[in-house]
Amino acid sequence: MQVIETIEGVRKALDAERHAGRTVGLVPTMGYLHAGHRSLIERAAADNDVVAVTLFVNPLQFAPTEDLAAYPRDLPADQALATEAGAGYLFAPSVEEMYGAGSPLTAVNVARVSEPMEGRARPTHFAGVATVVAKLFAIAGPCRAYFGEKDYQQLAVIRRMVVDLSLPVEVVGCPTVREADGLALSSRNVYLTPEERAVAPLLHRALIAGRAAIEAGERDPAAVRRVMHELISAEPRFTLDYAEVVDAHDLSTPTRLSGDVRLLVAARLGKARLIDNTEAVAISEADQIKTGATAP
Ligand code: PAJ
Repeated sequence: MQVIETIEGVRKALDAERHAGRTVGLVPTMGYLHAGHRSLIERAAADNDVVAVTLFVNPLQFAPTEDLAAYPRDLPADQALATEAGAGYLFAPSVEEMYGAGSPLTAVNVARVSEPMEGRARPTHFAGVATVVAKLFAIAGPCRAYFGEKDYQQLAVIRRMVVDLSLPVEVVGCPTVREADGLALSSRNVYLTPEERAVAPLLHRALIAGRAAIEAGERDPAAVRRVMHELISAEPRFTLDYAEVVDAHDLSTPTRLSGDVRLLVAARLGKARLIDNTEAVAISEADQIKTGATAP
């Protein structure tokens, strides 16, 4: 695997790959790679001839009060994992290489999809994400790009940006990789003390309970939110940020649940802010009868 630190270097390398007829898979990351990132790299390697992993802790997506300085880093371990998972290139630019001396004056803002949930908690976050991902796409050129469903709203923001700006990128969403007890893997899990780590899977259990309520016929979003809220609030170590159930495609909150929906939660646990989500299908009563999903 080749490690490249310059925009010009990676652009030339990926242009040459495409020129030789090879397809490119791109996996943007902030490093401190774990099995979740690995699953994206492996998927990209299975789908494409070459894989470029990008490793850049993007200052634009951190608010001044957030953990930019503390964000965990381990370049040698990341290099080993990316190589083993099948990456041919690791693009690891400095902040100066990406943004020059100051901050960029151009920002990509994806309205509406960016606004609820994470957008309310972190008002500048998604503009920072969309701007750096647009820049990475411009550097990498035509490719398939792999993102985790773990960051479901981020995935929705990027999908919408690609459509709106006609970017030559096919976005591929990949399932969340979890620990055996259900906790979604995250670089930020290292912030948890052993006691916090022990209660952390409650977030996932709350999502499962919310989904079970929908599967049992609950169609009122407020009732589903309540199920998740009550479970998470029962553990005093958690400070719940939000527990939502939204339309899976545009992330709007319906008055009654129907079709594909997504349950999403965010909570603070000690020094970590954890997010997780899961899917659910709210099949209409008429559909249930047609498919025999419920007893007549
Ligand atoms: P980062 O948090 O490093 O995540 C990089 C990619 O890995 C994202 O697409 C994320 O959704 C995915 N990922 C993280 N944990 C996962 C898990 N448990 N299972 C599956 N996929 C997982 O997300 C970012 O970086 C940044 O915002 C970025 C897109 C790189 C822009 O800076």
